[in-house]
Amino acid sequence: KTFLLALLIFKAPNSLLIDILISWRFDCYPERGVVVTEEMCHARNCCFIQNSQAKTSGRNGVPWCFYTPEYPSYELVSITDTEIGKVGKLLRNKKTYYPKDIDALQLEVLYEEDNRLHITDPAEKRYEVPIDVPVVPKTASSNPSYTVDFIKEPFGLIVKRTQTGTVLLNTSIAPLFYADQFLQMSTSLPSRFIYGLGEHRSNFLHDVQWNTLTMWARDVPPMELTNLYGVHPFYLSMESDGMAHGFFMLNSNAMDVALQPAPALTWRMIGGILDFYVFLGPDPSSVIAQYLDVVGKPAMPIYWALGYHLCRWGYKSSDKTWNVVKEMRNYGIPQDVQWNDIDYMDRALDFTYDTMNFSTLPDLVKDLHKHDQHYVMILDPGISNSLPSGSYWPFDEGKKRGIFINDSNGDILTGKVWPGLTAFPDFSNPDTHEWWYQNLKSFHEKVPFDGVWIDMNEPSNFFDGSLNGCPENELENPPYTPGILGGTLKTKTVCASARQKISTHYNIHNLYGLMEAKATESALRKITDKRPFVISRSTFPSQGKYSGHWLGDNRSQWKDLATSIPGMLTFNILGIPLIGADICGFGGSTTEELCVRWTQLGAFYPFSRNHNSIDEQDQEPTAFSPAARIAMKEVILLRYSLFPHLYTLFHHAHISGHTVATPLLFQFPNDEKTYGIDKQFLWGKSLLVTPVLEAGQDYVVGYFPKGLWYDFHTGDSLVSSGEEINLQAPIDKINLHLREGSIIPTQPLNLIVSLSEDGLAKGDLYWDDGETLDTYEKDQYAYIYFTVEQVLHNHEEAAYITVETVSFYGVKVEPENVTVNSQEAAFTYRDNQVIYFNIVLGTTGYKSVMILYILLSGEF
Ligand code: GLC
Repeated sequence: KTFLLALLIFKAPNSLLIDILISWRFDCYPERGVVVTEEMCHARNCCFIQNSQAKTSGRNGVPWCFYTPEYPSYELVSITDTEIGKVGKLLRNKKTYYPKDIDALQLEVLYEEDNRLHITDPAEKRYEVPIDVPVVPKTASSNPSYTVDFIKEPFGLIVKRTQTGTVLLNTSIAPLFYADQFLQMSTSLPSRFIYGLGEHRSNFLHDVQWNTLTMWARDVPPMELTNLYGVHPFYLSMESDGMAHGFFMLNSNAMDVALQPAPALTWRMIGGILDFYVFLGPDPSSVIAQYLDVVGKPAMPIYWALGYHLCRWGYKSSDKTWNVVKEMRNYGIPQDVQWNDIDYMDRALDFTYDTMNFSTLPDLVKDLHKHDQHYVMILDPGISNSLPSGSYWPFDEGKKRGIFINDSNGDILTGKVWPGLTAFPDFSNPDTHEWWYQNLKSFHEKVPFDGVWIDMNEPSNFFDGSLNGCPENELENPPYTPGILGGTLKTKTVCASARQKISTHYNIHNLYGLMEAKATESALRKITDKRPFVISRSTFPSQGKYSGHWLGDNRSQWKDLATSIPGMLTFNILGIPLIGADICGFGGSTTEELCVRWTQLGAFYPFSRNHNSIDEQDQEPTAFSPAARIAMKEVILLRYSLFPHLYTLFHHAHISGHTVATPLLFQFPNDEKTYGIDKQFLWGKSLLVTPVLEAGQDYVVGYFPKGLWYDFHTGDSLVSSGEEINLQAPIDKINLHLREGSIIPTQPLNLIVSLSEDGLAKGDLYWDDGETLDTYEKDQYAYIYFTVEQVLHNHEEAAYITVETVSFYGVKVEPENVTVNSQEAAFTYRDNQVIYFNIVLGTTGYKSVMILYILLSGEF
């Protein structure tokens, strides 16, 4: 038995063996801040070995107190085949050390699809997460790519990939707990390569060295090792052969996800039910698409969302805000959207504006619209509750309709946010959505905003719990509290025992941002009849259907520039591709160099917004020296030139669940060197971005997976054997490379064709009016697929689109002639194997088709 072996090996001099053993200890005393003693540990019937590496149990150390392999768990008492899989009945004979064990479980194993396994226990009267997931099919998938086996006692569940035999899930390695307020399940992992599990500040690749990730929505400037704004219990895991699978725990309670070097992972949740999915991929992109089939694919953004956004906290007036817009125009720097933070409000009250300092706000918005620009303003959920009755409709009416969160006595809970004492709308109540809509609609009549920024929606509260604190009960002080910053559930939010329409706050705290986004999205749909633009701070699975996200209150420092890439990549795999960090940094003062580098990287955030905190020095592109300003302008223009491509990537995210900003490992899953890369990323499949992330550098080292790459700017080719390459990176340059075999549409419409060794390439373009709802679903779009077949015959189909120029990268020999639809075209051929020519060919109307034959002829 492992345990016996454990003791033997422990005496052996071979430290490697000891390490292996230690890495398999599963923590029997995960309570934070407790120095576990032998007595305490034995009281839990666990094994105690004091280890010098860690002072206390839990967090980032080797557990001193751990389960024995025989530790009592559930026993499988029966197993029955069903139409859709099987049902296992489990019984617990021995109580655990947490109160209210649920002794009888019934695990339903649902073979939902060939690449999707779903396991749940049909909970009796327990809280379940209210998000839409696919209806369970009537019959099992015909050709599942997995097998599911049970181990009788102690109970365990083993899921394997049929094709390779790789074990994807093995819960027999530690006991299963299922008590009223403590559910725990451990599993081995096939490798240490694990991603997802947001929202945390970390590398893209998680560290499995005793790393516990706590999930409980929280307002705090992002830092390592703590719970942050959003909660995403989903991970992607690489197997040893380039294959990947995913795992989604559909649970919204506070939880810890403990990673350890075995490698193994433990879920520790304080409520809800066991309900999870395994996605078999087999490649990383397919895993994400399968996950998004369950929680929902991201919305197609309104076209202007792709533009450059400017924001700050502390524009003191609408005129000051307007001046910024005017200066941007004067310098010809593209800007699609101007934002306002809470400054625009009258005394920080939602749905009002300051008629003194922001008296010209309606005119500013009109002027933006006249220039085809857009306006977005902030809304916080806290609604002031202390104004004279009759003077503030949002509160008076909300109170009348009973739409606020109540405390455990049934009175409106009082918290504190920017306007002072506040009530919090309960977005789990449909009546709240109607009230929210009416508020937005009447404000829209005064200030015709185009999108909404929803902030502070963890929800954030300047009190812990409420003005009156929180009662002492098992919701506020559960038997186990995950490693939440501040130590209690109520820290900087409302009481866990507060009452909401569908459940206690304890269960649905993590859904607050999601539900507010849902209310805001649907209100905007009704008000504008266009694709809603919503950016939310707190997020939960399925959020991408309703909003984008930004990475919160970062700081103007180089480290924050670098960590924005893993943040962006993680949210892409979580199905929220409309994501970016505050460009140039929020807190602290930026420097010119940092802001230029950040604008370069930010030009490649799917959502690109410069935002700044109050009292910090200005950081709009117009605030810097001409050289810096010009460098920023250039890279923003570069972003704008890539819109046709970026928009097409969002279309694929919306329709097929693809990522927009893509980790390298997604395209090169057989190249392990890509598994840890988060200083570079791709747009889609082929545009590689290698930003400078450090001060004082004029070069950058980038990894190039094996193959042929082209410098996007010049067309110069480079052949990599899978190596790091030193790239020139003067202050006015961001390195961009095109992977062989791609065609990227840019604007004004130009096709950039990067030929593969065999002279092949392909690409596409999705195009519509940029704002109408559901254009794809209603067939109001053009989709154009470009291919280059052999050297060199190009065939394109287009609609209402004019192709103006074409560049081919990698044409090895200068052609004698170029003909476009049999007409000879003048071309330029450069020494670096690039040909470039103008064509003006186009059509109008959705249904019309343009066929373009480009023939390069000569001695090849
Ligand atoms: C929060 C937001 C930040 C905003 C500030 C004032 O800190 O995260 O972006 O500027 O509140 O509203």
